Amino acid sequence: MNEVIQNMADRRSVRKYTDRQLPEDILKQIIEAGYMSPNAGNKQLLRMVVCENKEINDRLGRLRKLVTKKFWWPEENEPFEFSDEELDSADVESSFYGAPCVVYLFSKKDFEFADGDAYIMANDLCLAARSFDVGSCVISIPTDYFLVDSAKEILAAWGIPEDYSIRAHAILGYPEGGFPEAKVHDLYAEPLYIK
Ligand SMILES: Cc1cc2nc3c(=O)[nH]c(=O)nc-3n(C[C@H](O)[C@H](O)[C@H](O)COP(=O)(O)O)c2cc1C
Repeated sequence: MNEVIQNMADRRSVRKYTDRQLPEDILKQIIEAGYMSPNAGNKQLLRMVVCENKEINDRLGRLRKLVTKKFWWPEENEPFEFSDEELDSADVESSFYGAPCVVYLFSKKDFEFADGDAYIMANDLCLAARSFDVGSCVISIPTDYFLVDSAKEILAAWGIPEDYSIRAHAILGYPEGGFPEAKVHDLYAEPLYIK
């Protein structure tokens, strides 16, 4: 394997993190790598919010989990709005696994390739992270949890325009207990080569 492909094999989803923050220069290089991602029509619409604030990340990670549960099992999880108390007392763990840095990727609501752009950039952030021995995981958006009132003020504080919505996350940090073993996924169907 060449160096690039080895880095791809070494990148595994990390779901347990130490509290250690990334050194500033490394975080900057990872984030800048995100701006190298292919993006539809070269419109470069994604906006990144790189958040190292534990309180905000924990809160949003728990909110995402609660909203996700509601989205998948709506009848079991009324109501859809969560008060601060409910959010703090609910028996859910953050979707961000305690990662010290969460990159929130926003794009324009009416852009048909917003999700494609976001997941490609999220993966590129993860690959760049692995090249610095930083752990990562792509975290999805089953539904827009920022629509909940308690998150809207965070959007406003971050200056996210109203015509933008959350599309994906990449979480970053140092793995607690090391990296999962490098692995080539083996459940895929064999590729069909046509000559
Ligand atoms: C589009 C997408 C969404 C994902 N969403 C989540 C998620 O919400 N939570 C999570 O823990 N992992 C998520 N993952 C990570 C996958 O579960 C992971 O890549 C897969 O299990 C393969 O393991 P590996 O990344 O260690 O190779 C996501 C990955 C992709 C590509």
